[in-house]
Amino acid sequence: MALYAHIVGWGKYIPENAVTNDDIAKIMDTSDEWIRSRTGIGQRYFAGPHETTASMSIAAARLALDRARIAPSSIDLIIVATLTPEHIFPATACLVQDALGATHAGAFDLSAACSGFIYGLSMGSNAIQSGAAKVVLVIGAETLSRVLDIEDRTTYPLFGDGAGAVVLQAHPTPGGVLSYVLGSDGSGGEHLNIPAGGSKLPTSQHTIDNRLHYVKMNGREVYRFATRVMGKVSKEACERAGVPLNEIDLFIPHQANIRIIESASKFLGISSDKVFTNLDRYGNTSAASVPIALCEAIEQGRVSTNDKIVMVGFGGGLTWGAAVVQWGLPMPYKRRQWWYRGLRWLVYRQARLRSIWLRWRRQIENKLPEDEQKDFLPSKKEAKPKPEKPVKEPVEQRHSDNGRSANGAGKPVEIAPPEPKPEQTVEEK
Ligand code: ACO
Repeated sequence: MALYAHIVGWGKYIPENAVTNDDIAKIMDTSDEWIRSRTGIGQRYFAGPHETTASMSIAAARLALDRARIAPSSIDLIIVATLTPEHIFPATACLVQDALGATHAGAFDLSAACSGFIYGLSMGSNAIQSGAAKVVLVIGAETLSRVLDIEDRTTYPLFGDGAGAVVLQAHPTPGGVLSYVLGSDGSGGEHLNIPAGGSKLPTSQHTIDNRLHYVKMNGREVYRFATRVMGKVSKEACERAGVPLNEIDLFIPHQANIRIIESASKFLGISSDKVFTNLDRYGNTSAASVPIALCEAIEQGRVSTNDKIVMVGFGGGLTWGAAVVQWGLPMPYKRRQWWYRGLRWLVYRQARLRSIWLRWRRQIENKLPEDEQKDFLPSKKEAKPKPEKPVKEPVEQRHSDNGRSANGAGKPVEIAPPEPKPEQTVEEK
């Protein structure tokens, strides 16, 4: 049975601290007029001292899971797309896994700069279509304010912080992620990068003195590259999905520059009412920009059942990617009741306690003599091995299920069947 990767949950997190163009003009030689006219950006949000890429990812993921009505223990894979991870390693995705209590999930970070969310969406959809996973959490999150150089007016005003998440779930109804196209050109890597802090240029007094831990960008070069690829890759993804350009219901581009967005929309022949933009309020949030925009589009009632949505990103690497998604959920979305949210609160408290318990257990274990360590607090599985039962379920259902239901409610969410194509009559079928 063919499986399709449907978006069944979505959530975003935006920090509270809004920074306007006028605020920036107070600390560097720029103006609201320059930033607005060259980029379309009016303000952005910067994370507070206690907000990080992981904390914002967790907040966005919880909302997405609540909307999907999926228990964290049902997640098979967590992908966090980011260029500002919590650490070089461990992966931010692992911190998210721990905080959510996603006890059966694999987790990794994905580095594709501003195209990261599209890359993550395509990897998640592949995992579902291959049968390797039933539920995948894809997050795009950034704390770019921590890698912006306050002495560089060519980059500082452009970027902002935030996170967006979607839950992908396997479903037999055709739709969901219909196609994607990914691309890269490493020869242009030097035009948008953070030079130091990796293995080529490890942190040293020299790298700090020369401000090499901050984002560097050749704006003109990136602009030229973006206007070339954005429309082209979107068109290619539509062709792969078999979706004519005039059937696109909503175009969600990476929110970097309004002039780049307008150029791509013109190339595709999409009218402005079908193009979603919010960079005037958030600036460029890199990997978070497309999922945040998707969440806002849903909040504003701009997504309906069976809509065909094109999402496209470009960025450092250089990388680019586009995906076509057919929205499967019945809309508008009904907000969960208070008791359901209360229940979820308890689930996350339990995850926190579990995390504390695992850390504490490791500490005790380390203090014991080696031969006693394996006998210390045996897990339930070790204490009472379950007798193996003969497997009756069909082959497709066995993949990655581990005896769990696909969602917290015990069955996949309801997906609306796709609308029949207008030219097909009943007799023709
Ligand atoms: N305020 C005032 N003047 C400025 C500012 C500023 N904030 N920044 C640059 N300038 C000046 C420059 O110094 C230059 O002055 P000069 O002519 O005396 O040298 C002048 O403005 C023009 O500079 P340009 O770089 O040519 O300006 P441009 O019109 O190209 O706009 C911009 C710059 C907005 C950065 C544009 O090139 C752009 O949007 N590029 C794409 C950037 C992008 O999309 N990046 C995101 C990639 S996603 C990722 O992976 C993170």
